[in-house]
Amino acid sequence: MKSNDPCWCGSGQKYKRCHKPLERPVRPGTISPMRSVPPLIGRPPYADTGEPPPGREPAVKSAEVVERMRVACRVAAEILRDAGTLVAPGVTTDEIDIAVHEATIARGAYPSPLNYHGYPKSVCTSVNEVICHGIPDDRPLEDGDIVNIDVTAYLDGVHGDTNATFLVGEVDKGSRRLVQITRECLDRGIAAAKPGRPLNEIGRAIEHHAHAHDLSVIRTFVGHGIGEQFHGEPSVPHYYEPRLTTVLEPGMVFTIEPMIAMGDHRERIWSDGWTAVTVDGSRTAQFEHTILITDTGNEVLTRA
Ligand code: MF3
Ligand code: CO
Ligand code: CO
Repeated sequence: MKSNDPCWCGSGQKYKRCHKPLERPVRPGTISPMRSVPPLIGRPPYADTGEPPPGREPAVKSAEVVERMRVACRVAAEILRDAGTLVAPGVTTDEIDIAVHEATIARGAYPSPLNYHGYPKSVCTSVNEVICHGIPDDRPLEDGDIVNIDVTAYLDGVHGDTNATFLVGEVDKGSRRLVQITRECLDRGIAAAKPGRPLNEIGRAIEHHAHAHDLSVIRTFVGHGIGEQFHGEPSVPHYYEPRLTTVLEPGMVFTIEPMIAMGDHRERIWSDGWTAVTVDGSRTAQFEHTILITDTGNEVLTRA
């Protein structure tokens, strides 16, 4: 966004004249104590220590791992779908965390975010200008908010990761457009993920669509390989990275999870060490799927 462009807030003013921090920025709330997971549920290696053990997992998965991932991914997708039905004005993000936590263990899975690098909750809930990694707290959702719910489930030794952005009550037109274009960015990225093609075609397609609608692409947070590890190789930027010429191969499993902003793409992190917000307070949206590269194209694993 250049200073003479119209402001992203929809006022029709030039950005440099209009832009000021949002009137009601999201503020840190009170975080409830960490929830426990029944002992019979299989735990990822970091569940007790907070730190994933060192070692790299191959980007191309065996058929056996893929089979387990299909299940974990479907479970994550079902939990996300159900969590989305709770979104309404007055519902706190902590209530969404409780629902995701209970739904995950009801399916025999462990909520992957819980204690991952010390993360204190079972899901990420990112409201308005929060880009990602928002921690559920006692803030009630407000009419006009947008909220991303990012669900990851660990089942039978593998993770499935998916997220979506939901509208809270009556949402302004600019924000609805942001959410819709972001959804399309994920679709474009998925369409570009084919065997034999360079990985950077994914980010190229996403960035092209975002820029065509005067939206910006978050650069610090990227898609990632996933399997027995939550985050592995390859890294999947959502912008065009010419040097990234890795060729996609059948058996690769990774996420595509574009975060798209109305204004500045740069972020800062709250003192909680997790919550990433845009530096200018502009809203962002995100959608995520876990996909498998197949012989002919790809398969979206995180469908309910
Ligand atoms: N689910 C997020 C992703 O898409 C990662 C969350 S890590 C956490 O990669 F620790 F914040 F949960
Ligand atoms: Co992810
Ligand atoms: Co995720």
